Parts: sequence; structure tokens; C-alpha cells
Amino acid sequence: MDLKGRSLLTLKDYTKEEIEYLIDLAIELKENKKKGILGDRLKNKNIALIFEKPSTRTRCAFTVACVDEGGHPEYLGKNDIQLGHKESVEDTARVLGRLFDGIQFRGFSQDTVAKLAQYSGVPVWNGLTDLYHPTQVLADLMTLKENFNTLEGLKLVYIGDGRNNMANSLMIGAAKLGINFTIIAPESLWPEKELVDQCEVYGKETGCKIVVSDNVDEVNGADAIYTDVWISMGEEDKAKERIEMLKPYQVNSEIMGKTGKDNSIFMHCLPAVKGYEVTEEVFEGKNSVVFDEAENRMHTIKAVMVATAGEK
Ligand code: CP
Ligand code: NVA
Repeated sequence: MDLKGRSLLTLKDYTKEEIEYLIDLAIELKENKKKGILGDRLKNKNIALIFEKPSTRTRCAFTVACVDEGGHPEYLGKNDIQLGHKESVEDTARVLGRLFDGIQFRGFSQDTVAKLAQYSGVPVWNGLTDLYHPTQVLADLMTLKENFNTLEGLKLVYIGDGRNNMANSLMIGAAKLGINFTIIAPESLWPEKELVDQCEVYGKETGCKIVVSDNVDEVNGADAIYTDVWISMGEEDKAKERIEMLKPYQVNSEIMGKTGKDNSIFMHCLPAVKGYEVTEEVFEGKNSVVFDEAENRMHTIKAVMVATAGEK
């Protein structure tokens, strides 16, 4: 599989086989790291990490993954560079493309990450925008595979804010890999119809179903229940109305019980606000895999960088 030079802006741009390749490479890299074996596939590579929004996992995952493979990561916070203030995205992209071998971008607009890719000439990786969070979904798919050995035919249910970057990206990733995907949310927070339609097309190819509902009973049969914060970065002004609207969609032991399965896992991209989208009990419960997901961010991001910007 040759992914050299490719950007990762959304999983829409990747085939089922390409996504599976990245997950399997991440599993191999994880096994190697556990044995103390690191690589040098990013040796002499400089990686720019641009952050308009804050981050713990994504920033640390890119940094550690890059250093593990012999590369040099450079953190560029929103107040450190001219991007969008004194310089256009196009110009910043062309400058960074002359100096760096890959660029991670976390921020607001999908248009910015797309422009960085278009103008820099080097692989650009989306570390979260308002619309998508593809590297998180790779880690989540890897975590599902570690738990169930297979992905096709699983039922993944996402409950909560059905219009945010996580809901969008999980739906794309699940549909591409043949995972039945259900979004449970109040109707005003359902995903854009156009994206659902597109995911249904992917699902037809891979043999899975996409369901969008406001009924929490749809968790029945779920292998995994996923939630995310009710108020995403940049939406702080919507806090009050969201909390009211999403209260019935909290993942608690009653909801977990409705799956009808003992081994359904609980997933969350983190950071979590316990007491809102998930109870302490479920978060800390034995079926919670949230810290595996967090660790797998590093292994999957390493796989993405090695595959798209690495030497071997
Ligand atoms: N899940 C995730 O992207 O976490 P950070 O915001 O800490 O990077
Ligand atoms: N939807 C959340 C994801 C955080 C990783 C946000 O955008 O803030």
C-alpha cells in the first residue's frame, strides 16, 4: 500500500483498504513499541504542529509519535505564528511547505486545513476541525478491532451531539469499514442530511446500515456506545441550551443496560465532562476503553505519518 505524499483531511478521501492498512500498521507499531522497538522512518523529517484550538491528546500523540520515529516536531500555537492574522493561509502554507515535511493542523475551519494541503505541497493531517476529526476515528477503529478482532458487522452507537466533528467522522469511518452506525440525538442535532446520504452510499458498498434517531432504545444490540462532549470547542455560548436538550441522552448505566449485551464497550474521544454526557460510573466502569483510545491516538497518528511522510 503506497500512501506516500497523501494528506488526511477527512476519511472520505480514503478507501476501506487504505483505512484498514493504517489500523493494521498502528497495531504493528504498538506491538513494536511495547517490545521497546522504535523506528527511524521519520529521520531527518521536520513536522509542523499548528494549533488554533487547545489539545492534550492530539498534540502529545503527534509529538511522541514523531520523536519515536526519529523526527523533529515543532509546535506552532495560534499566537506564535502569523497564520490568519498577518498572513494568508495560502502564504503560510507555501512557507511551511518549503521548511517542513508534514503539517498537522487543529483549528476551526475545514477550509483552512484544505488550503494548507493545497498550497504546502507536503502531507497535511487534520488534527480536528469543526467538521471532522479523522485521526481520532482511526484510534477508535483500532480500539474496536482490539476488542472485537473484527470490524465488519459490529454495531456502533453514538449518543449526544449528532452534528459535531466526532459524530460526522465516526459515521464516515464506520460506513467505510462496514460497521453498522446509529446516531441517537435530538432532531435539531442530527447530522447534515447530505453527509448521511453520502455515508449511506459507503454503507451500501460495505454492507452496513446508518440509522439516525432520537430514541435511546436504539442502543439495543450495540457492541460499543460512544459519546462526546455536549459543547465542543468554540461553542461555549451554547452551553445552557445544549445541557437542557441533551440531558435525556446521557450515557449512564441504564443506557448501557439497554444494549442487551454484557460486553458492550463504552467509548469517548476525551476530554470528558463527567456528570453531563457520561456518568462517573460508566466512565470508570470495567467496559470503558477510553484510555486505550487515548493511547491509540499515538500509534495511529504514527502510522499516518510513517505511511504518508516516512522514508520506508
Ligand atoms: N481527543 C482529542 O482530540 O483530545 P485533545 O483535544 O486533547 O487533543
Ligand atoms: N467535539 C469535541 C472533540 C474534542 C476532541 C470538540 O470539538 O471540542
